[in-house]
This record gives sequence, structure tokens and C-alpha cells, in this order.
Amino acid sequence: LNAIIGFCQLMEDGLPGPINALQARYLSDVLKSARHLLQLINDLLDLSKIAAGKMELRPQSFALAEAIEEVCSGVQPLADVKSIQVTRRLENAPAQAYLDTGRFKQILYNLLSNAIKFTPDRGSVAVEVDRPQAGGFSMSVRDNGIGIAPENMRRLFKEFEQLDNSVTRSHQGTGLGLALTRTLVEMQGGSIRAESEPGGGSTFIVTLPGTQVAAAEVT
Ligand SMILES: Nc1ncnc2c1ncn2[C@@H]1O[C@H](COP(=O)(O)OP(=O)(O)OP(=O)(O)O)[C@@H](O)[C@H]1O
Ligand SMILES: [Mg+2]
Repeated sequence: LNAIIGFCQLMEDGLPGPINALQARYLSDVLKSARHLLQLINDLLDLSKIAAGKMELRPQSFALAEAIEEVCSGVQPLADVKSIQVTRRLENAPAQAYLDTGRFKQILYNLLSNAIKFTPDRGSVAVEVDRPQAGGFSMSVRDNGIGIAPENMRRLFKEFEQLDNSVTRSHQGTGLGLALTRTLVEMQGGSIRAESEPGGGSTFIVTLPGTQVAAAEVT
């Protein structure tokens, strides 16, 4: 898949030579499917690793705002396609977090890609970090998209659950993102919850510990 994606990108960029409009369209379809398949495989591998008890987290100190910025710019192309604004409010964020950086970014990526996917064109998505009294930090991802019906809220974090199962379903995906996200949050001592209203947008709030530096890192 990495070869397929890499060489398709080279051709799309016209490096081996010029391509016509139809070829460009096919290449873009191949790229989209390949990226989607890669995502699916990675999610399945992660879930299998967790089920086998082999998921290892490597916590370290990292600059929290910087990591969030990186993920936000990563999803910007997805948002651009739908003219969605992704805003951030990070002024209350602790300077450093102590977590598995890659897994932290994966959590945010999953929530942001959902927010963008389930929000119509010209909508808005916002990331906000706060420091609750209880310690640690909270990170919320809010959208003003299609929202979630109350009776569906409990299905959200289950594997392979997608709320809209209609044949005409217009959103891509497998229903693994939130199940994986919840496990990654809980494995790091955090929790995740959702607030939503049909048609009124959704907010996913992750609370994580991990502003303290573990003893191991001090030595
Ligand atoms: N921000 C949101 N607004 C409205 N519905 C949402 C939102 N996030 C998730 N959902 C609903 O919850 C379901 C499960 O989300 P999840 O991320 O697990 O799966 P997915 O995005 O459909 O597929 P995948 O993440 O595997 O690509 C979605 O299919 C959608 O119905
Ligand atoms: Mg998803």
C-alpha cells in the first residue's frame, strides 16, 4: 500500500511526465481508496494488538500545543475540501504533557476526522484545551454538524458501529475509530464522553492525566 500510495502521488504530481484529466481523476480515486484501506488495516492491527495485550505505550514529555497544531494542520486538507474552519483555543493548555505522543495525536486525529466528516460544507470545528480542577487536562473537539440522536449515544464507542447504516450512506468509514480512540484514552488513564443533539452538532471531550513527569523520566 505504501508503494501504491507513493507512486500514485508521484504520478499525480506529474514527476514521471504529464497526465491528462481522466488519468488524474483515476489516480485520485486510487489514492483515496488506498489511504482508506491503509487506515482500516492500521486500525484493525491496533485493535488486535490491544486484544492480545500487546499494545505498548511509550509515554514521554512533549509540547502539547505543538502536537495539537500538527494534527490540526494534518487534517486541514480534509477540511479545505468542505470549506470547514478548524479553530483552536489552546491558551489554557499546559505547556507539556506526559503521554504516548503518537497515540495522543491518533486520538485527536480520529476525533477531528469524524468532526469534519459529519459536518456539512462551510461548517465549523473547534479544538479547545482546558485544565479542570481535578488535574490533568481536557481536550474537546466540537462541530456544528449532523449531531447524534440520544438513543444512539451508547453505541458510539463500540467496534464496527456506524449510526447511519442506510444503503445511501454517504460517509466513508468502518466504525472502528471511536472504539480505538476510547481504548487509547482509557489505557492512558483518561476518559472520553460525547455531548450531542441531532442537528445541533457534537462535542467529544477527552480528559487525560499526564501533566506530571513520571519518576522514571526525572532520573
Ligand atoms: N462528530 C460526529 N458527529 C456525528 N456523528 C458522529 C460523529 N463522530 C462519530 N459519529 C457517529 O459515530 C459512528 C462511529 O464513529 P467511528 O469514528 O467509530 O466510525 P467511522 O468514522 O464511521 O469509521 P472509521 O472511524 O472506522 O473510519 C460514525 O459512523 C457516526 O455515525
Ligand atoms: Mg471515524
